[in-house]
Amino acid sequence: MDMRQRIGALAGEMLQKAFPEAQGLPEDLAALLEVPPDKSMGDYAFPCFKLSKALRMGPPMIAKKLAESADKPEIARVECVGGYLNFFFNRENFARELLSAIMAAPEKWGASRDGEGKTVCMDYSSINIAKRFHLGHLSTTVIGNSLKRIYDFQGWKTVSINYLGDWGTQFGKMIAAYKRWGDKATVEAGGVDEMTKLYVRFNDEAKENPALEDEGRAWFKKIEDGDEEALSIFLWFKDVTLRDAMKVYDVLGVQFDSYDGESVMAKKTDRVVRELEEKGLLKDSDGAKIVDLEEYGMPPCLILKSDGATLYHTRDLAAALYRKETYHFDRSLYIVAYQQDLHFKQLFKVLELMGYDWAKECQHVAFGMVSYEGQAMATRTGHVVLLDELLTRAQERALDIINEKSPGLENKEEVARQVGVGAVVYATLQNNRIKDIDFWWDRALNFDGETGPYVQYTFARCCSVLRKAPEIAAAPDYAALTDDEAQALLRLLSRFPEAVAEACLRNEPSIVTRATTEIAKAYNKYYYEHRILDDDPAAAAARLQLTDACRQTIKTGLYLIGLDAPERM
Ligand code: ARG
Repeated sequence: MDMRQRIGALAGEMLQKAFPEAQGLPEDLAALLEVPPDKSMGDYAFPCFKLSKALRMGPPMIAKKLAESADKPEIARVECVGGYLNFFFNRENFARELLSAIMAAPEKWGASRDGEGKTVCMDYSSINIAKRFHLGHLSTTVIGNSLKRIYDFQGWKTVSINYLGDWGTQFGKMIAAYKRWGDKATVEAGGVDEMTKLYVRFNDEAKENPALEDEGRAWFKKIEDGDEEALSIFLWFKDVTLRDAMKVYDVLGVQFDSYDGESVMAKKTDRVVRELEEKGLLKDSDGAKIVDLEEYGMPPCLILKSDGATLYHTRDLAAALYRKETYHFDRSLYIVAYQQDLHFKQLFKVLELMGYDWAKECQHVAFGMVSYEGQAMATRTGHVVLLDELLTRAQERALDIINEKSPGLENKEEVARQVGVGAVVYATLQNNRIKDIDFWWDRALNFDGETGPYVQYTFARCCSVLRKAPEIAAAPDYAALTDDEAQALLRLLSRFPEAVAEACLRNEPSIVTRATTEIAKAYNKYYYEHRILDDDPAAAAARLQLTDACRQTIKTGLYLIGLDAPERM
């Protein structure tokens, strides 16, 4: 029951009737339909000027001729306004058909099989070993998680990859430092912070004592050669880092199918280098090996340093080939900050030059910067907001609000987790991903604004209405849903599937955030202006069904952006 498709088909029939001889008309009329800015102008508007060339006729005249052949039960009337033909649904029919379609499989409203048989790889979160999980990694984690859910819902097979940053000479230095000054218990207890201290000390002391650098290099060489001691310390560093990260992932409800990171790909770079060589793409540059990209207006892609060490690009090339060969993806997404834009442009260009036409299926899904209450995030200035601290604070604040608003609530701690985390996640997915985000507590946790808690609260409201409703035997009377508020809500519900499809197409979760928020707002408006439990049981049944459809669609929307939906708040 996709009204856009139906109106599109209807427009096709009308066109056929009005202009049986016409040639060269657009195929997909549904795609041409526009949503009028104001509902007094109808539910969908068909822009006739798109046909005027093929029909050699002015748009208003086309609209007029089409209008003459409009006569279908789903349409109450059409109106010609300028070059547009505006369609008005038959309100009662619309309510009946839409709600019947939603209630036939409420959990699936918005799902599709568009992606059936296709696989998408998604590289997100991709944290660095021995570094703290800070706010900068929030967006990639949260956008990636949402996209995974959206693609799943559209029928794709998804492969989520946490491409760990676990390769580089810094790990040799860290082991050297640990051997000199560290001890197991301190690192176990202090985790990543302790490793960072060791690393900082190493770099400080290396300024006085350059021999340390050799020691660091030697340890890294040992990791590369698979030396048992080096490897066991390195793997332990990884464990400790991941243990911290897992806590964050658990709170966020994020999971991965693979943790194959740079160290795994470092073992697969030989064939990349060989292949680049065979394909004549490799060039010498002061002893280093590069792929020249000058022709494409980009700096060279570095493949091997003069000492033969691989680089970020080399490992990413290996990873791309590995993913293609292992998962046979139809699309491969890299959800990474826009600062790495050039890196990915170069990467995809080199893949293309290697002759892989699937390079065009690789996409950099970029996002903007996050600042925190007006201050940019920067490690150097020491202004680092750590993700676990942020999430803990969010939960504490949510608990305060709950204690104030509904002190008697059961499960307060769990609801505080859902709401606090929801506030943070929602704020991250609220606007187009490329926009910079400035995170403010008061904004994110405001139950009245456009926030996660607001949408969650509306969901809980729907649940409460349904809980309190008596059993009704009467069949719903959809004539009770022809008022403007109910219709506005129905329209938004009917467009939810389009929003999900669009979010998937553009890798843009904020489209789902917005669609869900609009439904919540429209439900609240409806709720304030109408009595749901009317004296007439058939009317009440219709309003309850509308409430139920909202409840389920809001729940789906929240799920798709990674939020839980508590039934009571
Ligand atoms: N670990 C990198 C970082 O934190 C992100 C890796 C992104 N993925 C990739 N395939 N390069 O900056």
